[in-house]
Amino acid sequence: MSHTFEDAQRLLAVPEAAQAISEINHENDERRFFSPEIIPVLQGKTRLADHSEYQFAIDQEAQKTLPDIIGNHVQGIESLSENSQESDALHQQFTRPLNIGLVFSGGPAPGGHNVIAGMYDAAMTANPESKIYGFLMGPDGLLESSYIEITKELVEPYRNMGGFSMIMTGRTKIDSDKKMAQALETCQKLSLDALVIIGGDDSNTNAAFLAQHFKPYGINVIGVPKTIDGDIQVKTADNQVLCAISFGFHSAARAFSENIGNLCRDACSTRKYWHVCKVMGRVASHLTLETALQTHVNLALIGEELADYDDKERMEKADRENTVDYTAFGITLRHLSRLICKVIVRRAAVGKNYGVIVIPEGILEFVNEIQVFIIKLNKIIADYNRIHDIGFHRAYPNLAEKLQYLRHISQGMVDKGPFPIWNQRDDELFHQLPRFFQEGLLVERDKHGNFQFSQVKTEVVIMDMVREYLKVLADQGVYKMGIERSNYQQMMSSTGLDPALVGKAIFKNPDDAYLVVAPEIISLKTMKQALKNHGILGEDDGLPEAIQQIFTKSQPNFKTQTHFYGYDGRGTDPSYFDCTYTYNLGLTAFHLIAGNATGQMAAIKNLEKTFAQWEPMGIPIAKLMHLEERKGKLSLVMEKALVDLHSNAFQVFCQIRDKWIAAEPGEKDYYRRTGPIRFSDDRKDDKPLTLLLNGL
Ligand code: FBP
Repeated sequence: MSHTFEDAQRLLAVPEAAQAISEINHENDERRFFSPEIIPVLQGKTRLADHSEYQFAIDQEAQKTLPDIIGNHVQGIESLSENSQESDALHQQFTRPLNIGLVFSGGPAPGGHNVIAGMYDAAMTANPESKIYGFLMGPDGLLESSYIEITKELVEPYRNMGGFSMIMTGRTKIDSDKKMAQALETCQKLSLDALVIIGGDDSNTNAAFLAQHFKPYGINVIGVPKTIDGDIQVKTADNQVLCAISFGFHSAARAFSENIGNLCRDACSTRKYWHVCKVMGRVASHLTLETALQTHVNLALIGEELADYDDKERMEKADRENTVDYTAFGITLRHLSRLICKVIVRRAAVGKNYGVIVIPEGILEFVNEIQVFIIKLNKIIADYNRIHDIGFHRAYPNLAEKLQYLRHISQGMVDKGPFPIWNQRDDELFHQLPRFFQEGLLVERDKHGNFQFSQVKTEVVIMDMVREYLKVLADQGVYKMGIERSNYQQMMSSTGLDPALVGKAIFKNPDDAYLVVAPEIISLKTMKQALKNHGILGEDDGLPEAIQQIFTKSQPNFKTQTHFYGYDGRGTDPSYFDCTYTYNLGLTAFHLIAGNATGQMAAIKNLEKTFAQWEPMGIPIAKLMHLEERKGKLSLVMEKALVDLHSNAFQVFCQIRDKWIAAEPGEKDYYRRTGPIRFSDDRKDDKPLTLLLNGL
C-alpha cells in the first residue's frame, strides 16, 4: 500500500515524528545553552596597561607605512579599582555607548560565532545602548555597506556552533585608496567607534592598514586571530609566546583526526588500501603535525622539514668526485616519492599491504622545482595583469592558450631581455607534468595573491609518482610482500616438500618470522629455476600449486584511496577548547575597544596552561608585519608562523614516527583513536597536542 501526501502530512503532525526530524536536536540544545567560563578580569570593568617589556623585531617598511600604530605596545587588561578619582573617568569611558562593526574575513574556522557572542555579551553588559553591526559576506559587506544589527535573537541560536553562517565571510582585500574610502564611508555612516576584523594573517594585515587609515577619523580597528591553519602564532623577539595558536585549529584538527582515525581502522581491517589524506593548511604543516600526533598514522610529511632535506647519497657521491651536486639540496618530487616508497616497501616486507599517509596541502611550497614554478608563474601572471586591461585568466581562459603564452615567453617573444623569466628548460619541465597538474599550477591566485593549494590535486600527483617507482622496485625484486612463517608452513604441508629446504632456496631471510622471496625471483620461471638450482625440483618437474601460491602472495597489489580533509573541518562545531577560547577572545576584543585601543590583535596568553592562568591582551599588529612576495612583488603582510623544527612537538614527532611505520615482524599498528569532538563531558583538558607539547 503506498502512502499518500495526506498520510505523510498526518505522520508529520505526530509530535514524535516532528521532533525526530527537527533541525534542532539534543546536541544543538546542549551547545546553545552552554556558557563558557570567563577569564576573571574580563568579568568586570577594565583598563588597558602598556607592557613595553615585550619587544619585537620591527620591519623598517612597517615603520614607514604604519607610522601611527607602529609605536603600539602589548596591552594587558587590568581590573578597574572602584575607589580612585582617576578611575571615575575610566568607569565612564568603559561604560560609554559604543557602535561596533565586525566582519569575518577568509575561510571559516570553528568558534567564530562565539567571538561575536562574547563581543555582544560584553558590550551589552557594559552599556545596553551600544550597537553591534555584522557586515555581510566578509569585507565586501564593509565596502558595500551591507550589514545587519547583531541582536540577542540573532546570537542565541549560534552560540557554540560552527561555521560563519550568521553573517558569512569572504576574501576581499581592502587594497586600494578607493576601497579604503568606501570602508571609511560605511563606518562613518554607522558612526562606528570601532571595527573588529576576525581573520587570518591577510585579514589582520587588512586590520593594520585600516587602523592606520582610520586613525585620524577616530575609528579604532581590532583584529582577532582566526584560521584553522594554525599559522598565526606570536612570539616576542626573545621567544616569549604571546599567542600560541589561532582559533579553529583545534576543532579542525580534531575533525580531521576523527576521520583519519576511522580510515586507520578500516585500513587494518581490510588490509588492501593505502589511504592518502591531503590535509588543509595553505602553506604551514601545523594541521598535519597535529593530526599525526593525534592519530599515529604510518607516515606524515611535514613540508617545513622537507625544505631542509639534503640527499646524503648524492652529496657523498659528489664529494668523492670532488664536485658539488646542487640538486642534492632541497626536496624534489622524485625524492619525495622515494621517501614514501621506502615506507610502503618496509611495511610490505612484514605483510602489510595497507597504511595511512598524511600529506599537507601546502607541501608543494617546499618542493624545489614546484616552488620555482609557483614563484615564476606568480610573477608572470602579476606582470601580465599590471600591463593589460583584461586579466591573464580572462585573456587565456583555457590551458592550451596559457601554455602557448608561456612558450612565447620562453622563445623570447614576450620578454625581450636576455634571460626570460620562463626559459626553455622551464617550458620543457612544465610540459612533462600531467595536464591536471599544469592546470592546478596555473589556477587563478586568490585576492591576496596567494597560490590556491586547495585546488591542486597534490596527493594524486605524488601518488602517481609513487606508483611508478614501486613498479621499478617490484621489477628489481625489492618490493615484495612478506609471508608469515606459519602461513608458509601451512601452504607447504600439501606439497610433501621440506619447508626448510624450500625456504632456503626461495627466501632471502629463511629464518625470519616474515619471509620475503629473494630479489632475483621475479617470476614463476625464476622461482622454478631457484628450486632446480637447489636440487629440490628436477628438470621435468612442474611447479607445485602451493609454491605458485607463495609466489602470488609475494606480489604486492598496491591500491590507493585519496581523501582531502579541509572544508569539513572548517565547518565542524567547535571543541570545548575553541568555544571557551573564542568566547573570551570576543570579550577581549570588546575590552580593547572600551580601552580605546587600535591596531591591536586580541589574544590570550598561556593557552596551554590551566584556565586560571589565561591572560587576555592586545598585541600590536604592525610589529608582526614583514615583506613577502605577493602577486610578483614584495608586500607588507603579517608574518605566517611555520612549523618550528626545533619545537617540542616536532621533536617528539621525530622521535616516535619511525615506530608508527610499524614494520617490525608481527608488530601491531599504533593507530590512536581520538573519537568525535564531544561536548557533554568535561573536556577542559582536550587541547591541541602541539600546544601542550610546545608549552612543556
Ligand atoms: P584562512 O587562512 O582564511 O583561515 O583560510 C585557510 C584555508 O582553509 C586554507 O587551509 C585553504 O588553503 C584555504 O583556506 C582554502 O580557501 P578557499 O575557501 O578559498 O578554497
